[in-house]
Amino acid sequence: MCKSISNIGVLTSGGDSPGMNAAVRAVVRTAIYNGKKAFGIYDGYQGMIEGRIKELEYYDVSNIIQKGGTILGTARCMEFKTKEGRKKAYENLIQHNIDGLIVIGGDGSFTGAHIFSQEYDLPIIGLPGTIDNDLFGTQFTIGFDSAVNTVVQAIDKIRDTAGSHHRLFFVEVMGRDAGFIALHSGIGVGAEDILIPEEPTDIQKLVNRIQKDEHTRKSQIVVVAEGDDFGGAQEVANEVKKQLPNFDIKVTVLGHVQRGGSPSSFDRVLASRLGVQAVQSLLEGKSSVMIGFENRQTVEIEIEKAIKHHTKPNLQLLELVKILSSGG
Ligand code: ADP
Ligand code: F6P
Repeated sequence: MCKSISNIGVLTSGGDSPGMNAAVRAVVRTAIYNGKKAFGIYDGYQGMIEGRIKELEYYDVSNIIQKGGTILGTARCMEFKTKEGRKKAYENLIQHNIDGLIVIGGDGSFTGAHIFSQEYDLPIIGLPGTIDNDLFGTQFTIGFDSAVNTVVQAIDKIRDTAGSHHRLFFVEVMGRDAGFIALHSGIGVGAEDILIPEEPTDIQKLVNRIQKDEHTRKSQIVVVAEGDDFGGAQEVANEVKKQLPNFDIKVTVLGHVQRGGSPSSFDRVLASRLGVQAVQSLLEGKSSVMIGFENRQTVEIEIEKAIKHHTKPNLQLLELVKILSSGG
């Protein structure tokens, strides 16, 4: 145990994701369990720069495990990208005697954390919190499972109306430049096709497939990742409509509904496990590591590696879609 850490700061940064609250709760309670103090830093790096920091007691994190969003608030903070901004942030941490930091966010947040920990020799642990699931070094990020479940529920509803009207739907889902949400939700809803950035989109192939099933399928749903190389759902739909003018085509962009809502049980358990491990790793003297989840266990991975490397969804799953949606 490293005796030097007594006061642990925790913040959420970047896009919010369901399960961040469960992670905050786990961090606060594990710190207290180990006889340390926990401090919530509000609105990510913005609150750190502005000194919006408050000690969190055990019961301050009651009744939040089931809540979406983040009780600490989050922000995309440009000032933290400057040396001056980070200096202000450090001074505020010193004022509160914070000597260890846990950052819950995505790779942008980790990039900031890594620079900060190098500049000020402050131990920092990262927890992967993003719906995109695009971080290297963890099979799952906090929020991904909930987002996929939200997408699946929404597309199931779309399927009802698509079937009733014999329509072709293009549904756009989030993921920035990664296709995890599209791939997993697409398989979950039995989509006729899935377009992801990791696989170049062949529009002609897509058109041929859609046309082949015109009279055999009641409805067709194509899930499009927002980062697809051809464009979003609207662009894909416009091109398909040009070639198949008789099709009744609709476009749905699911948007931020995917980021909200109560976290799934999977995300609650994941966030709890990662949050406990983050404090334990910090107290063991670790720094600049992200706590990930691989092969059913929590793992530590250098933040530098998590930022540098990119992770791709398993492209064999696209083969599975071909088999399962090839038509009778
Ligand atoms: P995410 O963490 O979800 O990837 P962002 O990419 O928006 O989200 O990053 C979150 C925040 O992390 C940014 O608003 C900024 O405050 C900080 N950050 C990102 N990149 C850097 C950087 N190069 N230097 C310092 N801070 C950064
Ligand atoms: O990183 C999470 C995410 O929801 C991405 O999937 C999406 O591209 C982006 O954030 C949207 O960001 P904002 O909420 O700032 O529009």
